[in-house]
Formats: sequence, structure tokens, C-alpha cells
Amino acid sequence: MQAKIVLLPGDGVGPEVVAQTRLVLEAIAKRYSHQFAFETHLMGGIAIDETGEALPAATLAAAKASDAVLLGAVGGPKWDDPRAKTRPEMGLLAIRRGLGLYANLRPVRGYDELLASSPLKPERVAGVDMLVLRELTGGLYFGKKYREDTPEGRRVVDTLEYFDFEIERIVKLGCELARGRKKKLTSVDKANVLESSRMWREITVRVAEQYPDVTLEHQLVDSCAMRLVTAPGSFDVIVTENMFGDILSDEAAVLTGSLGMLPSASLGVGKLGLYEPIHGSAPDIAGKGIANPIGTILSGALLLRHSLGLEQEAQAIEKAVGRALASGKRTRDLSAENAVSTAGMGEAVLAALES
Ligand code: IPM
Ligand code: MG
Repeated sequence: MQAKIVLLPGDGVGPEVVAQTRLVLEAIAKRYSHQFAFETHLMGGIAIDETGEALPAATLAAAKASDAVLLGAVGGPKWDDPRAKTRPEMGLLAIRRGLGLYANLRPVRGYDELLASSPLKPERVAGVDMLVLRELTGGLYFGKKYREDTPEGRRVVDTLEYFDFEIERIVKLGCELARGRKKKLTSVDKANVLESSRMWREITVRVAEQYPDVTLEHQLVDSCAMRLVTAPGSFDVIVTENMFGDILSDEAAVLTGSLGMLPSASLGVGKLGLYEPIHGSAPDIAGKGIANPIGTILSGALLLRHSLGLEQEAQAIEKAVGRALASGKRTRDLSAENAVSTAGMGEAVLAALES
């Protein structure tokens, strides 16, 4: 297979973790006789520095013309001025929207080897295997927003907006994904307060009727946050609004030991997808070669699976990560003692891939 993969290393630890993932993808190409052509483009703070824009037109065009996009991370204190007219995060939102990637898949699975690194008691996290499905191009992130001066004072507005079809398509995907898993869908909302949530719930009930084999439950977002720490093993697929999903997916991700471990896939109508680790740019450890590359390497596996249809190759990476962890290799986020570097972890995955 021939595929064009756009790399967006971005800011902070992004370039370090993307570099390791590229090596892993190159090893896969060699072993399975594929041809992957990589193209690196600017996005985020580095793009603002070099072009004045967080998502330069050339980057979006290259992404549109590619088979898949692998992103490291964007943002950092250098671009954090709240009055700045452009911010690195705007690049991320713009590329999600520009590519029509309305579905964000954040799978959370515990590795037995890492039970001790979880903030929860090991017996509570053992067996956790859930998928947070976050709506990604609507909701509170993309509603009308503005500031205004009024006689009573300065006023600020963010709005949570959805069209029915936006809710329908994400819930439908949630049902499809649940079908391939434990057949349980938890739709998370705030229907006791928000009108948008009440419509979300109505539509969800209607969509789920088409999937009688999938068990649907509704949960309010606040109690969902609680259940994620009290009974994380009770979830299969969680489907929810953009901002709720942003918050809950960080909580879900850390259950398994480290935010550094978790991959994500953002998908739209076609095969083109954007793949990125859940962690951010981690400016405090950037450039030190100590970031955990596993979240990005596993995002590479999702890229092979969802955009290129290479299931066997995706599993090869996932198994290699498991073996690298089983061999005792740990980056500093997972273990304070005898930690390996970013490159050391990458080499362990490569070695496991070749063994
Ligand atoms: C995420 C991040 C982004 C988001 C930021 C960096 C804009 O937190 O991917 O979860 O809020 O979507
Ligand atoms: Mg987030």
C-alpha cells in the first residue's frame, strides 16, 4: 500500500514523540512492504512564529491531500497571552473543523503492568476498557462567542449549539462502535439543566432504537465524573458533547496510569483522520527527551487501523507496546526509578516489533 502521511509535530514535546512514532511507522512499512511518504508541516505555536497563523493554509491543504495526519501537540506559555489575536489551540480547532472530523475516539485500556501507576486502587482499575467518543466540531467549542459592553457591565457569551444531524451522526457512530465491543452505550449529558442536552437525549433515544442489541443508558455529566473514579470498569462506550468529552476524557485517561499513554483518533465522513496523543505539549519537560512517546505511537496504530485499513499492522504496534512495557521499560511519568528516555522507549517498541 502507498500512503501519504502528514506529520504535524507542533510544540513542546510534540516533535520528540512524533519522531519516535515516525520510526515505528517506517519499521511497519518495511516489514509489511508498504510505502509511506511523510511530509512535515507547521501547526500551532511554531506556525504562529513562522507564518503568523496557527493553521497555515498550506498545512490544511496538505492535510486535505493526505491519507492521514499525525499530530504531536500544540501550545505553550510563549503563546498564552489571553489578549493574543491568535493562539496555537485555534490551529487544532481549525484543522478538526476544516477536515470535518466530528468524531473523536479516545480508547482507555489498562495495561496490567501499569496497575501500580494508577491513581486508583489496582483492583478498581483492573479490566478497565472503555472508549470515550467525543463530539468534536460542535457544542460549546464552536457556538457563538463574543464580548460586549452593556450598561450593566462587560458581558461575555459562549453558546452550546447543535444541529440535530450533528447529534445523530455521533450517537449513531457510538452505537456502531458499541456493537463491536461490549454493546453498552452511555450517553452523557446535563439534561436536568440544559436544553441542548434535552434534545441530545431525545435524539439519542431515537437513534438507539435502531440498535436493539446495544444497551443504552443516560448519565448526567457530574455523576459520570464520579462514576469514572468509583466504577470505571462499568463503562463501555461513552458518547458526549464536545466540552463534556474534553473534560471526561482527561479524567478517564489518567485512570490507567499516565496521560502519556493514551492515543486518539479524530474521524469524519471519509477515511482521512487526524491522530494525536491525548496529552498536551508539556512545556515543562519539552526538549529534555523524557516524554512518554507511547500515546503517539499508539495513535500511529489507530492511524493504520482507521485511515489505512491496516488492522494487522495496527495490532503489531499495540502488541509491541505491551511487550516493551512487559520488559520493564518505563518513562519517567510511569516510574521515578530507572526511567528510560523518549528515544529509549521508542527503541524498546521497535525491538519488540522486530522480535
Ligand atoms: C484536547 C485538548 C484541546 C481541546 C485543546 C488543546 C484545544 O485539550 O484535545 O483534548 O480542548 O480539544
Ligand atoms: Mg483536552
